Amino acid sequence: MYILYNDTIMPRHLFRVDLEDRGYQFGDGIYEVIRFYDRVPFELEAHLRRLAASAEAIRIPLPVSLERLGENIGKLIGENSIQSGIIYIQLTRGVAPRGHLFPAAAQPVLTGYLTPVERPVAHLEQGIAAITTEDIRWLRVDIKTINLLPNILAKQQAHEAGAHEAIFVRNGTVTEGSSSNLFGIRDGVCYTHPANHLILNGITRQVVLRLLNSVGLKLREEAIPHTELYRMDEVFITSTVQEVCPVIRIDGQPVGEGKPGAFTRALQSAFEQAIGTSQSAATP
Ligand code: PDD
Repeated sequence: MYILYNDTIMPRHLFRVDLEDRGYQFGDGIYEVIRFYDRVPFELEAHLRRLAASAEAIRIPLPVSLERLGENIGKLIGENSIQSGIIYIQLTRGVAPRGHLFPAAAQPVLTGYLTPVERPVAHLEQGIAAITTEDIRWLRVDIKTINLLPNILAKQQAHEAGAHEAIFVRNGTVTEGSSSNLFGIRDGVCYTHPANHLILNGITRQVVLRLLNSVGLKLREEAIPHTELYRMDEVFITSTVQEVCPVIRIDGQPVGEGKPGAFTRALQSAFEQAIGTSQSAATP
């Protein structure tokens, strides 16, 4: 298996994380998760732009240009034999003797590798159960940092409750999922939290927002009150890994009729088409 290290593609076994890498010690870094379908990355430019925005927000310089990183991701796919899956890219502030201040001399460490991840077909077809839990994260979750402890604890809580996603609630309103954005539909209107410092502006979220009109939904970027969540006709989550996934139970209560709704189904089809179009556009 070949990985990306800064500007070099190299065998995985030659790469070591340093004991004093600030990502390892402080969680001082950012990341991206990008899907590739049939060897073509989906929404690559949007992911690269968000990576650059996250890096800038915590003041880590990119070791290579975004253009070069995009080329290297292409090479990484070329060097490996994985057909479809995810690309994980991480950037940390680098290696330096432990201390909270930014080290003067550290060189940022950028790594990237591919994993074969299947599409979550059963979840997409049947929908998932979710729980709600308090959003105990910091106030800049728009930055895709590798500090994911509250997300991990929430996801584990969901798992132990027999559910697949934890929906965060802050001050009585729904923000997003532990690893996804959340949408609710009622009376032909689609509600989702505005893209501010309280959610990650998901790339899948942005694709879905562009598709709403085509399935006859109106958009209201408004936070859903926690109590209203249970009264939605349909609820779904979006993420690179989970795509457009219906939520059919929340805290043990059925959403709508307790099965994926018609608007969610229409959005799933439109999303499938978006994946297909991006592939044919990339094929010479
Ligand atoms: N997470 N919100 C949070 C908190 C997330 O962690 C993610 C994705 C999203 C959706 O973003 P996108 O559509 O760009 O994937 C929203 C990734 C997939 C992860 O950590 O695995």
